[in-house]
Amino acid sequence: MLKGKHIVLGITGGIAAYKSAYLLRLLIKAGAEVQVVMTPAAKEFITPVTLSALSGKPVVSEFFTANTGEWHSHVDLGLWADAMVIAPATASTIGKMANGVADNMLVTTYLSAKAPVFVAPAMDLDMMAHPSTCRNLQLLKSYGNHIIEPATGELASHLVGKGRMEEPENIVKILDAFFEKSQSLAGKRVLITAGPTYEKIDPVRFIGNYSSGKMGYAIAEEAASRGAEVTVVSGPVSLSVSNPAIKVVKIESAKQMLDACAERFPSSDIAVMCAAVADYAPAHSSDKKIKREGHDAPVIELVKNPDIAKTLGGMKRKEQVLVGFALETDNEEVNAQGKLSSKRLDMIVLNSLRDAGAGFGTDTNKVTIYTADGRRLPFDVKSKAEVASDILDTIESL
Ligand code: PMT
Repeated sequence: MLKGKHIVLGITGGIAAYKSAYLLRLLIKAGAEVQVVMTPAAKEFITPVTLSALSGKPVVSEFFTANTGEWHSHVDLGLWADAMVIAPATASTIGKMANGVADNMLVTTYLSAKAPVFVAPAMDLDMMAHPSTCRNLQLLKSYGNHIIEPATGELASHLVGKGRMEEPENIVKILDAFFEKSQSLAGKRVLITAGPTYEKIDPVRFIGNYSSGKMGYAIAEEAASRGAEVTVVSGPVSLSVSNPAIKVVKIESAKQMLDACAERFPSSDIAVMCAAVADYAPAHSSDKKIKREGHDAPVIELVKNPDIAKTLGGMKRKEQVLVGFALETDNEEVNAQGKLSSKRLDMIVLNSLRDAGAGFGTDTNKVTIYTADGRRLPFDVKSKAEVASDILDTIESL
């Protein structure tokens, strides 16, 4: 999978920098084109001469070539890359990346990179365990970077603990698996609903709910990163998408969401119903603001909204995969199983508002997936990006 891929290999100033030469060699052997970017401190540990000989390209380390004034564009490098790998990543560079301290070529390239970034920390066990390192790694993860966890073993200090940079062979395997996954949904069309629906009472008021759209948009990003062509039918949210393979269709009400989905579902391979659709809408909406003065409190008659997931379930062809969500507050498993069968879903993702870190608005979720073929897959609390990955792994397994 690495053949022809453009890899920026970032090397920082740690003892493990000697392993980067071997990592570079393995990447080149696998057919990748590699551009090395070093921090000034990295040159104390391994020479640019070795790395430029192995990569066949001059190593980039400074913003300018001193004698010619030639500018090295971190922006161009960031755009050129299919992936950026920082190995070894010291505590200092991890801190700079997490906080946007762009005082060297490596961090500026990282900040300009559009491609996925892999970070392989290497440091002494106490630095690794320090709350600031843990927080910075957590921040990098929350930005969508991939952390290649260090191994436990003898360290440069001769102490034994967690902090050894992952072996180059394994880093190559991780990259290879990543690129393989990035093609796993190529050619597939994925329809996703996200966010709330607003059901209009009058021009200034509506019935809605707390959905932020984060879960649905995370699924859209993950599906697009696996090569799918994605359409998100989205209720009113303040999110945007970063992948050009994602098209967003904005709607407001459940009826509009149904129309948008019914039109697109026949040409979709996979549909994921993540929106929090209002179950009821006002029977009548006023085209003028309902006044308070001189009126009794209005009684708003409600009517049932269409069930979008159930409608699509009725339209579903054998080769299509339809996934629903269940947001519950009690009797979770029974309710989720009931929705799985009554809506003719292939799988349902249960999240319960009783679980800390799950549901509306949070950056995390805790889900259990039930498949129509009888599997029950419970997951821990994870970022919504990681939950999206678990959901798509399970969809792919269907
Ligand atoms: O957007 P976030 O802030 O990130 O929050 C994410 C989330 C909590 C909204 C999401 O994880 C979630 O649970 N979405 C489904 C919420 C919901 O409406 O659940 P439900 O159990 O009421 O509905 C069951 C399924 O039927 C869902 O797939 C829902 O999209 C669908 N449905 C429901 C009602 C309706 N009229 N039409 C539908 O299609």
